[in-house]
Amino acid sequence: MSLFSVAKPFAASTPQTAQSKVRYALRTKNLAPKAHRTNSKQKTPLSSFIEHDVLFLRQHGVKHAKWHLTAPLRPSSRVKLSYGATVPAAELIGRRILDVVRDSAGNSVVLHEPSLASYIINSERLATPIYPNDASTIVNLLDLNPSRPGEDDQDDSGPPFEIFEAGTGHGSLTLHIARALHAANPPLPAPLRRTLISAPYKPHYDFTASRGCLEVSLEDQSAFDAYASSRRAILHTLDHNTKHARAAYKLVRNFRRAQYLPAVDFHVGSIDDFLGHRLEQTGGQPFLSRAILDLPSAHENAELVIKALHPNGLLILFKPSISQIADFQAWSTETKQPVRTEKVIELYATTASEGGVHDSSGGRHWDVKTVVPRAQQGEEGNKKPVQVMRPRVGERVAGGGFLAVLRRWPVSEEPAQDALGEAETEE
Ligand SMILES: C[S@@+](CC[C@H](N)C(=O)[O-])C[C@H]1O[C@@H](n2cnc3c(N)ncnc32)[C@H](O)[C@@H]1O
Repeated sequence: MSLFSVAKPFAASTPQTAQSKVRYALRTKNLAPKAHRTNSKQKTPLSSFIEHDVLFLRQHGVKHAKWHLTAPLRPSSRVKLSYGATVPAAELIGRRILDVVRDSAGNSVVLHEPSLASYIINSERLATPIYPNDASTIVNLLDLNPSRPGEDDQDDSGPPFEIFEAGTGHGSLTLHIARALHAANPPLPAPLRRTLISAPYKPHYDFTASRGCLEVSLEDQSAFDAYASSRRAILHTLDHNTKHARAAYKLVRNFRRAQYLPAVDFHVGSIDDFLGHRLEQTGGQPFLSRAILDLPSAHENAELVIKALHPNGLLILFKPSISQIADFQAWSTETKQPVRTEKVIELYATTASEGGVHDSSGGRHWDVKTVVPRAQQGEEGNKKPVQVMRPRVGERVAGGGFLAVLRRWPVSEEPAQDALGEAETEE
C-alpha cells in the first residue's frame, strides 16, 4: 500500500463483546475502502474537497491524535503535520469529508471541514479574537434580520444596511457578522468568486479599498466594483494596525473559499477619519444601522460612531472588565450622548476541549459514554458495559467579558435615562 493511499479497514475479525461490536462498526464505517465510499453513482451529502479549501485534519499518531488546520489547498503544496510527517495537498483534493489517508509516516489522517469556531480558534493570530461563542452572542444581540434580494420592496429600494466594527483585530467577529449578513446580498457570479479565491495578493496593498488588495484585471476590478455597489448589507471593519487588517482579510478570504468576503469592506486608519469622511458625503445624515467597538479606548472614538448611527440603531461595546463599561456609561451621560443603555451583560467563560477544537458554544462540556469498567476488563465472561455521565474536568477556560448594548435615540429627545426610559436614583 502506498503511504498516501486510503487506509484499509482494520482486521475484520468477528467482534465478541458489545463494546467491541460498537468499535468494529465505527471503524468499518470510517475506514471503509475508498472505492466503496467515493462511488460517483452513490448519492451522498458529503461533498469533495477542491483547490483552495481549508481542511481540518485529525492525525492519529502513535500516542495521541492531533488536529491540524491546513492552509488553502494548492496541488503543488504539502501539508505539514505532527511527528515530522507531511501529506501532499494533491492527495487531499478530490477526497470526501471523513475520508482517511495516510501521512508520510504511515499515520492515518481523517479529513474534516472546520466549523467556524474551530477555524477561528486554530488559525494563527496577531490579535486576541473575540471567542466564537461570545461572537455568536454579539451577533444575536445585533438582531440582524436581513431579507433576501427580491423579498422586500422597502429593503430592495432603500439604502444598504451598514454595520461598522472597530477594531478588526483577528477578524473573528468580522467573520461571524459577515456570515449573518450573507443572505441579504445578491449572489456573487461564480467566475468572480473564482477570481476572488485565486487572485494573488498585490505586493504592496494599502487597504484604502478592500477590493484593491488583489492582483486582478481592470475588467474584473470593475465587475467587483459593480457587485459591491449592488450589495444590500455591508460590514465596514476598521483597524489602525495594517498587519492586523491584512491578517483578518486573509482569515475571512480563506474561510469556505471566500464565501463571506464580499459582504465586508476592510479599512485601515482612524475611526474619526473614516466616519468623518462618510458623514461629509451624507451631509451629516446617519447611515449606520449597527456598530460594535472592541477597542481599549471606546469612548474616545464613540462620538462620531453615535452620530453616524440611525435613530434606533444599536451600538455594542465589548470590554474585558465591568469598570470599562462603567467608564463609557459615565462619559456618555456627562457628554449627553443621544444613546440609552439597554442592557449590560456578562459573558461567561466557557470550556473548550482539545485546544478549542470542539467549541462548547457557551455550554459546559460533559462526558457521556458507554464503557466496560476497568476492573472487569481483564476478566473472562460477563463484561457488562456501564454508562458514564459526568462534566469534563481540566478543560481549557476561554472567552468571557462584558457587553453593553446601547440604542441610538433621536437627538431632539432627552436620552440620559435608563433602559426602560425611567430616570433612576439610588437609595
Ligand atoms: C482585541 S482586538 C479586536 C478583536 C476582534 N474583535 C476579533 O473578534 O478578532 C482590538 C483591535 O483594535 C485595534 N485598535 C485599538 N485601538 C484602535 C483605534 N483607536 N482605532 C482603530 N483600531 C484600534 C487593535 O489594533 C486591535 O487589532
